[in-house]
Amino acid sequence: MKTFFWTKWIVVIGILAPMLISFQQSDLSVEEQLGKELFFDPLLSQDQSISCSSCHKPEFAFADNVALSEGLFGQETARNTPSAMNLGSYTSFSWDGRAKTLEQQSLNPIQDHAEMGMPVQEAITRLVQSEHYNAEFRAIYGNIPTKENLGKALATYQRTLSTKSAYDRYSAGDESALSDQAKRGLELFGGKGKCVNCHMGNDFTSGEFENIGTYDGQTYNDKGRANYTKDSGDNGKFKVPSLRNVAVTAPYMHDGSISNLKDVVEYYNNSEAMRPHGIGRDELLLEPLGLSSSEVDDLVAFMEEALTGDDYIK
Ligand code: HEC
Ligand code: HEC
Repeated sequence: MKTFFWTKWIVVIGILAPMLISFQQSDLSVEEQLGKELFFDPLLSQDQSISCSSCHKPEFAFADNVALSEGLFGQETARNTPSAMNLGSYTSFSWDGRAKTLEQQSLNPIQDHAEMGMPVQEAITRLVQSEHYNAEFRAIYGNIPTKENLGKALATYQRTLSTKSAYDRYSAGDESALSDQAKRGLELFGGKGKCVNCHMGNDFTSGEFENIGTYDGQTYNDKGRANYTKDSGDNGKFKVPSLRNVAVTAPYMHDGSISNLKDVVEYYNNSEAMRPHGIGRDELLLEPLGLSSSEVDDLVAFMEEALTGDDYIK
């Protein structure tokens, strides 16, 4: 009896806990609201079990907390699920940049066999047959559901997913927004750590494709950008990810092969030692950075404290 009582509460808390640290939004337009509904609707997957939010989970800043996510029929995704938040600095999407627009990127997972697994046209047919969606699309777009307006609705919703954090208050002149440790981390980020060479601008990404040596052609065998461009010079290049909310989106890298932020910074500190056979590593990382262990901690503190959106501060 007692056990049952506690089990029940553990289940209830388990369901509520992710909601406690989640993303609060108000005042969505009708189009954004439609996109939101679609983002959370498993109707868009073959067996109606998977929605965008199955992998892009609100409680993990619309990323996942596992190296590879589970898609249709328990299949693993080919890569680590990136955050669907703060996408504003990207001019192409996915780790290798194969999608040119957010609208296009939003349709890709529907037809990916390991993700949602059905032709986009099939999804459109389901939406046309749904009295509710058909009416919504007609009211908003003056047309029945189509590939174009489905992509548009999903993209429009995702563009609302942006976060502000302590870093923004600090940049606007509030000295007290960051601890001394995070301020030291910021200094290292732009200096000795060389991070800002690739993680720059509003979302801490150049949006470019760079090689930090995570590809070795053997154990770590994803060619990244080259899969799309077919140019061997792009082997091992991946899109520089945004670092907003990065503390919420472990594990890290295109394959989820680094489990926490401290290990990421240790990786940069001496990437040659961590992945000795990395192919085509950027010249910025050929020599060890020489960060002391307290400097490593400072960089981690900067990412955790300064870049975590207010909705995700525990
Ligand atoms: C089964 C898990 C899964 C599902 C379901 C899923 N995604 Fe993804 N998503 C991923 C993975 C993995 C990637 C990275 C793909 C790559 O780079 O090869 C990704 C990439 C993205 C990106 C690119 C982000 C960036 O940094 O470039 C966006 C945007 C996105 N997904 C939106 C969506 C939308 C919208 C849906 C629903 C229609 C959806 N995803 C469904 C796993 C998933
Ligand atoms: C030469 C460009 C470059 C430099 C310099 C660089 N990064 Fe990166 N960063 C990248 C790329 C590219 C990736 C993705 C690599 C992959 O997935 O294999 C990445 C990934 C990351 C990730 C994982 C993010 C995620 O969502 O998985 C973190 C955290 C990170 N970098 C922080 C830093 C820090 C801190 C520094 C400085 C110590 C730094 N980066 C320096 C290009 C760079």
